[in-house]
Amino acid sequence: MRMIHIDSYDYDTMQLAKPVYDSRRRILLAAGRSIHPTYLQKIKELNIRSLIVEDAESAGITLDEMLDMPTWMDAIKLVEEVYTEVKRNKSISQITVKRIQEFVGKLLMEVRNRPIIVLIPSTALTPELIPYAHAVNVALLSVQVGTKLNYNMIQLRDLAIGALLHDIGKVIGNEENHPTEGFELLRKTRELKVLTTHVAFQHHESLDGSGYPRRIRGEEFLEVGQIGGIANLYENLISKEKYPPHLAMEMIMTKSENTYSHAVVQAFCNGVPTYPPGTKVKLNNGQVGIVYKIDQNLHRPTVRILSTMEEISLADQPTLMIQEVDQSIETV
Ligand SMILES: [Fe+2]
Repeated sequence: MRMIHIDSYDYDTMQLAKPVYDSRRRILLAAGRSIHPTYLQKIKELNIRSLIVEDAESAGITLDEMLDMPTWMDAIKLVEEVYTEVKRNKSISQITVKRIQEFVGKLLMEVRNRPIIVLIPSTALTPELIPYAHAVNVALLSVQVGTKLNYNMIQLRDLAIGALLHDIGKVIGNEENHPTEGFELLRKTRELKVLTTHVAFQHHESLDGSGYPRRIRGEEFLEVGQIGGIANLYENLISKEKYPPHLAMEMIMTKSENTYSHAVVQAFCNGVPTYPPGTKVKLNNGQVGIVYKIDQNLHRPTVRILSTMEEISLADQPTLMIQEVDQSIETV
């Protein structure tokens, strides 16, 4: 299976590999079938932009690096419910904190089983759900970075909760003050740790003092704030700015030592692949292939050449390079 832009969907060659949901999180189209043009049009009208499909070219690619869809949707539901509660009560109840803690425990188990992580794009959902999907993806990335930095389970849990709620201040504030509003709200929530509240407070700060809301610099910018920041940046590049993953990764790498510490950037690069499985690529020898799996080297995947079905590990072939990426490549 692989991720595609909805405009690249081909009725004759592709089947849906993961379900499509509506804005109320109900299954609109189940996996396993081709999408009839009428339905395709309907999903496009809902502004869903990405699909996960199965086709001959991507056969054998399992995308195990992705969280399973029901767990992802449950996480989105939880975040949506917390937002609704904060909108109504301007506070988070003890019961809700308990639910968040329990769910994050489950999420941690899921993530810990995966050496690397590939995000389900939030653009696979309708725009109404994207802010919540964004929060969930930021949490998944944060846990991944924390794991690479050898955080223990308690640290990971507190980090994940902070990442899930990093933008909660937007419910009561605006773009400029949402980190402060979020921090104040979370600080009033007794059960939440300082570490959690600072993910929300600092996720827009920068080591060089150019961030907001406090323009802190150097050591004041806590590692958990940096993790929340780098995860937020990457997720926005992918979902909002429509960057392909390899360019988003390039951008992340330019942030080392000026926005985030080298250690945090390094940990990010060690947990997120440059080319997710299913990416179509053209090599410098002219061959066109599809990223088949990622094993020993996160940035040098195994590519299946489409004309011969031969599998080439770029980690073992130092002279071969990925020259072009994407669906615009003409296959021969
Ligand atoms: Fe934010």
